[in-house]
Amino acid sequence: MTQDELKRLVGQAAADYVNVHVAEGAVIGVGTGSTANCFIDAIAAHKHRYRGAISSSVATTARLQQHGIAVFDLNEVESLPVYVDGADEIDPAGAMIKGGGGALTREKIVASVAEVFVCIADASKRVPVLGGFPLPVEVVPMARTAIGRRLAALGGVPVLRVTQDGAPYITDNGNEILDVKNLAIDKPCVFEATVNAWPGVVTVGLFASRGADLCLLGTERGVETVDFRARR
Ligand code: 5RP
Repeated sequence: MTQDELKRLVGQAAADYVNVHVAEGAVIGVGTGSTANCFIDAIAAHKHRYRGAISSSVATTARLQQHGIAVFDLNEVESLPVYVDGADEIDPAGAMIKGGGGALTREKIVASVAEVFVCIADASKRVPVLGGFPLPVEVVPMARTAIGRRLAALGGVPVLRVTQDGAPYITDNGNEILDVKNLAIDKPCVFEATVNAWPGVVTVGLFASRGADLCLLGTERGVETVDFRARR
């Protein structure tokens, strides 16, 4: 199977999971990226089961609305039974690197409210140690260089994310992103807390203190379900 086929497989598996485990009339949390898009496309067939969705990005909002799925402001919603999103990397404890699509801040906010975080990923995303994929760190623009120095002191190589025309990439929240190469993150919770504490950091794309509860992993043998809650 191609990577795209694996993404469609887990997108459908996540829709099946939500249809079974989430009550009718609920609002569901929806992530960002090509795998999350497969989930949106799969859940659209059952959209009348749900009141609507909380979106993690402008792009996801547009795709949900194209399918006729209502998008709510998080401030209007009291509970969120599930959040479904992709990942750039996931480790054996369910800690993830996210933010390759630039939506890390809203993704982390929505994930923090959800009762269950379902990560959907093709098998290439499963790694023993996080850091092969450059770690996105969203920063307030005036702090870019100062934060870059601190990341370099930890052994990382921060690179400002730019668009195709070379301009700084700007997030949905008006900030910039440093993509940090050359990391091997063996203590994800400690690393997350350390970087989070620096003034000017909006969000570090390390989802460790609130990692995935479940992962639906697309493999050549089909969808493998990993339940991290049983391991905690
Ligand atoms: C976006 C994300 C995505 O979930 C992550 O980049 C994976 O994307 P894809 O499903 O396209 O591989 O964190 O900010």
